[in-house]
Amino acid sequence: MKKKILSLVLCIMMVFCFSACSNKGDSKATGGNSGNIEVGIVLPTKDEPRWIQDQGKFEELLGKAGFTNQVLFSQGSSATEKANVETLISKGMKVLIICAQDASAAAATVEAAKAAGVTVIAYDRLITGTDAVDYYVTFDSVAVGEAMGTFLSEKASGTGNPLYLYAGAATDNNAFLFFQGAWNILQPKIADGTFVIKNSSEALALKDTKELTRDQLSTIIGQVTTDWDFNVAKSKAEAHLTAVSAADKGNVFVLVPNDGTSRSIADVFAADSDVSSYVITGQDAEVASIQYVIDGKQSMTVFKDTRTLAADSINMAVSILKGETPATDATYDNGKKEVPSKQTPVVVVTQDNVKSALIDSGYYDASKFTGLN
Ligand code: BGC
Repeated sequence: MKKKILSLVLCIMMVFCFSACSNKGDSKATGGNSGNIEVGIVLPTKDEPRWIQDQGKFEELLGKAGFTNQVLFSQGSSATEKANVETLISKGMKVLIICAQDASAAAATVEAAKAAGVTVIAYDRLITGTDAVDYYVTFDSVAVGEAMGTFLSEKASGTGNPLYLYAGAATDNNAFLFFQGAWNILQPKIADGTFVIKNSSEALALKDTKELTRDQLSTIIGQVTTDWDFNVAKSKAEAHLTAVSAADKGNVFVLVPNDGTSRSIADVFAADSDVSSYVITGQDAEVASIQYVIDGKQSMTVFKDTRTLAADSINMAVSILKGETPATDATYDNGKKEVPSKQTPVVVVTQDNVKSALIDSGYYDASKFTGLN
């Protein structure tokens, strides 16, 4: 009888432990005790494949490096982001790696971390208006936009080519850098008549201005933003194509800031019978977009190797935890300070190099795709 009671108690304990352990929501702790986190990572959303890729790399690399860590997602909310950072502070976090939901709203959040003695690394997106950002690990975001602008320009011949412009969320500093990069290349081609902007009166009004101020960029982005949201992107593209005449369509060129919004917008352009062909940009090399590239439904993507970015930030965190000064190779002005930064180059992926850039490099397994040569 005693034995039976003992095994029943053990069973209950096991069930309790199992449900407690699996009830961690979107967070994960590896490499040791979850109550003692050395490196905390906060990412914007689970709803975009881009950030799931980053999560995977972090967990793999930090686990290997032997550091206790936890990845939390903000799910599009600055309030959740703040709560996540507070949770990590309460668990003793020493280094915070954070990709902010909103560049300026995150300032107060990282100031709280800094006040608790945490070293703050902004990851991919810069946090603005605060001196509480110690380091910034990023891709060359102006180069991302320039790669898109160059791609569109190289595909266009003659004059009068219809151009549709889209941008990222105005709360994301990167949206400015991407657009600025694209504008660097596209503006001379708009000024000389190669392209004619069809969906932005604000961009059209500035067509002769090469160097846009932050306010001018804001005005254009305010008009053509996708908010990084697939549905916003879709309905904006639908509204734009409804507002123009058949003569404004034909062989069109579409600047789109990332893969998720690119697939949404590409579907809208593909469904319009007055659009005979479209050249469309993207970034992140998401699996679904690589399939679109292979199938000829998305023209290019800018591949940002998250293995490098995650590794760079982890190397930084390791140096910080060892009491060393991490290596940097650039600085970014966040409005309050020149933030020491580590910058990674980007690669343009098209049908021609999809295999060498993404499969042969080991980034993706070929079995994820169909029709790959
Ligand atoms: C990132 C992109 C991403 C976008 C939307 C940007 O800050 O740099 O890679 O597609 O946010 O999440």
